[in-house]
Amino acid sequence: MPSNNVTVVGLQWGDEGKGKIVDALARTADFVARYCGGANAGHTVFVNGQKFAMHLIPCGLLHDGVRNVIGNGVAFDPVVAAEEIAALHERGVNLGPENLHISSAANVVMPWHKLTDSLSEKDLGTSKIGTTARGIGPCYADKARRSTAIRAGDLTDADLLREKVQRIAAVKNKMLTALYNAEPLDGEAVAEQFIELGRQFAPMICNTGAMLRRAIAEGKRILFEGGQGSMLDIDHGTYPFVTSSSVTACGVPTGAGVPPSAVGRVVGLIKAYTSRVGSGPFPTEQDNETGEYLRERGREYGTTTGRARRCGWFDAFAVGYAADISGVDELALALLDVLSGLKEVRICTGYRIGDQQLDSFDPAVMARAQCVYETLGGWDDDITGCRTFDALPGAARDYVNRVEQLVGRPVGFISVGPDRDQTIRHKTQIQGLD
Ligand code: IMP
Repeated sequence: MPSNNVTVVGLQWGDEGKGKIVDALARTADFVARYCGGANAGHTVFVNGQKFAMHLIPCGLLHDGVRNVIGNGVAFDPVVAAEEIAALHERGVNLGPENLHISSAANVVMPWHKLTDSLSEKDLGTSKIGTTARGIGPCYADKARRSTAIRAGDLTDADLLREKVQRIAAVKNKMLTALYNAEPLDGEAVAEQFIELGRQFAPMICNTGAMLRRAIAEGKRILFEGGQGSMLDIDHGTYPFVTSSSVTACGVPTGAGVPPSAVGRVVGLIKAYTSRVGSGPFPTEQDNETGEYLRERGREYGTTTGRARRCGWFDAFAVGYAADISGVDELALALLDVLSGLKEVRICTGYRIGDQQLDSFDPAVMARAQCVYETLGGWDDDITGCRTFDALPGAARDYVNRVEQLVGRPVGFISVGPDRDQTIRHKTQIQGLD
């Protein structure tokens, strides 16, 4: 039986507008599950002009009856989660054991992770990765190291947690003082803080893999919400300028504890242009007036860090690669309205190194590659009020059609503004949207 599930993944460097599409699809889902990343993600959803910015809590939270899951592949930061839950509560959105489930196998972001993240970046100087300083890399490093990791399940046992935190804090303090000459952390205070957080989250911590597999057997729909973007994937991205988890659709089975067949229909999210935060290669970057135009019109400032994002043209060569890795079935094209007002728009169709045009994409050569561009006509019209494909100006329709051709996937949705209703349903094959 074909899977009823949907997976949404970013095909660029993150910030493709996943919050909006996940929110739109969430109303057809029984579960919304995150499987990668942590509080480094920033998902913004606008409902009736009200802005909801989330980092850790899945985007299904604005729909009654949807159960939100933080899977085992997520770096769970209970401090951020508690703050987000409190802020949402103030705005009348309630999260508790009935609609938020946290995997007992998710690794916990601890204070030493955040500290190490910042200190290591400082130490690297101009070679820094440009992380979000949320402790993500060090948390996953401890996951792989095992002996210094804390899992969400540990938060439910105060005695075990105290013993673990104190033992690990002693190891971390040796490292912090020796490597960075930093002040040691107070293990006892950290233990108390996390025991208290554990009390708050214990009713929500469970075996989410078993819960999702049961839901699949019952024919329920799960929406897997990717974090970051494919070019930041730990294996397939622009290493070492990547995040530390498997963010493509290939990360869903391990990060959520479900079989590969559960991935379902894969929606690849793209912006009509490209942005990137942090260091690393970005061949279509426009460090000029065009980049500035895209940044201002697209409000390209980080949800998590407030950093100005680097902006440039759409890279169909890179997106095609990312779409192939995740087995993307359809695209969701966001922020098309940002391109309005440009005389012409450009799309990168391939890379060249010297005289040699590359026939297959490899992120490792991006830093040395020159882009091969195609130039299309721009449009002046304000398209934020368009609700059908035919209502778009001809040049905007040509642009969408060309993206579709170059990436080799149909465009299911087109987003022309931040609000829920500023979406054109184009060629989507996702069932149940009516
Ligand atoms: P980290 O995930 O904080 O370790 O950061 C590693 C790289 O991924 C940096 O370049 C960050 O700017 C980038 N990054 C992490 N999360 C996101 C995201 O949600 N959107 C865009 N970039 C991200």
